[in-house]
Amino acid sequence: MENAEESGGLSGAPVRDKSTLVISQLSQRLQGALPIIGVGGILTGADAVEKIAVGASLVQVYSGLIYKGPQLVRDICKSLG
Ligand SMILES: Cc1cc2nc3c(=O)[nH]c(=O)nc-3n(C[C@H](O)[C@H](O)[C@H](O)COP(=O)(O)O)c2cc1C
Repeated sequence: MENAEESGGLSGAPVRDKSTLVISQLSQRLQGALPIIGVGGILTGADAVEKIAVGASLVQVYSGLIYKGPQLVRDICKSLG
């Protein structure tokens, strides 16, 4: 995987697609038995929509909040609204 040789943990955009894939796979297996928190690389409202679309019940942000600030929460709410 790209960035695999970096020291420390990865977050933000590099983990977005991988995270979406894992959420999708979990959602198919769980069939609603447990809620899924979608996290990893959500930097825009569209990213949050994508996580919900593949089966997340809610989303969590960390890196996006650092780079975009509280406006990101507004963008996500608008996009999900
Ligand atoms: C600086 C930093 C500290 C973190 N600390 C924790 C932690 O203490 N516990 C935890 O479960 N996840 C922690 N995380 C992981 C985040 O909650 C999140 O799962 C991960 O960063 C991927 O989401 P993101 O792309 O929105 O950052 C941390 C992430 C960062 C960047």
